[in-house]
Amino acid sequence: MYYSDEVIEEVRSRNDIVDVISGYVKLQKKGSSYFGLCPFHNEKSPSFSVSQQKQMYYCFGCGAGGNVFTFLMEYENYSFVEALRYLADRAGVELPEQEYSKEAKARADTKAILLEINKAAAQYFYAQLKGSQGAQALSYLKNRELGDDTIKAFGLGYANKYSNDLYKYLRSKGYQDEMIAKAGLITVDERQGAYDKFWNRVMFPIMDANSRVIGFGGRVMGDGKPKYLNSPETMIFDKSRNLYGLNRARSTKKPYFLLCEGYMDVISLHQAGFANAVASLGTALTPGHASLIKRYVQEVYLTYDSDEAGTKAALRAIPILRDVGITARIIRMEPYKDPDEFIKNLGAEAFEERIGKARNGFMFSLEILEKNYDMHSPEGKTDFMKEVARRLAQFDEEIERGNYIEAVAGAYHVGFEDLRKLVGRMAIQTGLAKPVERPKSTQGKKKEKEDGILKSQKILLTWLTSDEAVFRQIEKYITPADFSEGIYRTVAQLLYEQYEKHDVNPARIMNHFTDEEEHREVASLFHTKIKELTTAKEQEKALQETVIRIKNHSIEEATKMLDPTDIKGLQQLMNAKRELQDLQKLHISIN
Ligand code: GTP
Ligand code: MN
Repeated sequence: MYYSDEVIEEVRSRNDIVDVISGYVKLQKKGSSYFGLCPFHNEKSPSFSVSQQKQMYYCFGCGAGGNVFTFLMEYENYSFVEALRYLADRAGVELPEQEYSKEAKARADTKAILLEINKAAAQYFYAQLKGSQGAQALSYLKNRELGDDTIKAFGLGYANKYSNDLYKYLRSKGYQDEMIAKAGLITVDERQGAYDKFWNRVMFPIMDANSRVIGFGGRVMGDGKPKYLNSPETMIFDKSRNLYGLNRARSTKKPYFLLCEGYMDVISLHQAGFANAVASLGTALTPGHASLIKRYVQEVYLTYDSDEAGTKAALRAIPILRDVGITARIIRMEPYKDPDEFIKNLGAEAFEERIGKARNGFMFSLEILEKNYDMHSPEGKTDFMKEVARRLAQFDEEIERGNYIEAVAGAYHVGFEDLRKLVGRMAIQTGLAKPVERPKSTQGKKKEKEDGILKSQKILLTWLTSDEAVFRQIEKYITPADFSEGIYRTVAQLLYEQYEKHDVNPARIMNHFTDEEEHREVASLFHTKIKELTTAKEQEKALQETVIRIKNHSIEEATKMLDPTDIKGLQQLMNAKRELQDLQKLHISIN
């Protein structure tokens, strides 16, 4: 923490969230909340809500949410401290001299230097490309049909043949070896000293969403290996949380992204007018990528390579995207390998046509799945339909699920009602709040279970913040220690303290977190979608199940950690087990 809790809270409480957000978004009062079009994703009907009472905002479409600080962090791309300063200024609060902790300051300073170094390197590579040594590289790019504007827009460059030219340049600008190495641009060898990581390659600067250079990809101009050399992960470069081309794609008005595999695909597509193309950075798509995408769009068109590896990658990406609520469509590139080649051969119009003919990702994945079953035998088809039903059960939204059941019933000639019933049975078999299917390694299984528990904890936290009566009924049984270590437990602790003081204030809880990612996560803890179960009775049952699951997990964990000679711990565990039994009988009532 850089500033004291008191100062942060003073600034927050003196900036009414509705006032602040009204400066950016047209809000309309509906009931106890204000609604408007979400500024963080494209939408036609308002799902962005601001609560004056809670002093928080939340978008039911894209999951963006937080307090007044979060809003400015997301909208203006401010850091927490920048948002704090801005709001202090706005409300006329005088901030004390900065109280950086030593480590926090050192980290912030290092990050700032690494960004400077990467920027200087990008400028250097660009100048090299345009200079006398860059002729071959420039003609390589021209051969790949890139225009000057494109080269400039993407800041493409050239790392020359000398093995320490960039190093010398950065030293001449005053940067220390340690920092240049931390930026991932040199390798330090005991005998040879420092030498450049990139050598005789065409350089692709990788930028974050705010167009700051955070790393590089370097391509050989020919058939050498490795084809691409990428910067290592550094303090500022996290491959699973950045996408190539996002800095430009984020400001297009298209409601979807084109997600492809390569740097060159992104560049070709942008040059052809498809500025909504992005690529993951030489790694498979991660949940981190998916939630990053979700900040901007609800739909993704996958334009992966048309070979087997590309198809596999697409199949893996579809459920990861669906997990965060993004619909995937598949664009086929046949007979070409990738979007770059496709555009070169058939042009932008033909690509636009392919976009129009994109296949629904889910239906596409069923076609591939079909190949594992003997669809001509009744048993084979039955097994296939069961697997399909299991996958259909994973759509949370009833309307969406219904639409897919209808589509599948049509495509595979089975009765709608029969399939709907099968899906219902599969849903019950696999449990109510069951996590989504992931690759079947044992590690994956474990992760699934953890995800499931976290989801339950999230649901309970949402319930506890929004309904005091629920809190009062369960506080005897569930304590903050029953929540998983880290953000969840901290939030629970703060919430329980607030209830004790009869001053529940979720926006204030957020003050404890200064990182944008943490803000998003904490906000989601207060706004988890509780399954749309129709009757209060069903809700009560689901709540009870949730509470039991959390207690059960907490007991399991405590059992694992227990030292058998720890008598007191043993007693506590016995008590907890007794409470669990009481919980099974408890009737929780919801208003
Ligand atoms: P071009 O052959 O220049 O058209 O490249 P591309 O962008 O089409 O790349 P490709 O489809 O072969 O690979 C997709 C992405 O994977 C690239 O953009 C890189 O990010 C990454 N990649 C490809 N080859 C390598 C490699 O040899 N090493 C590493 N680390 N990454 C690679
Ligand atoms: Mn290519």
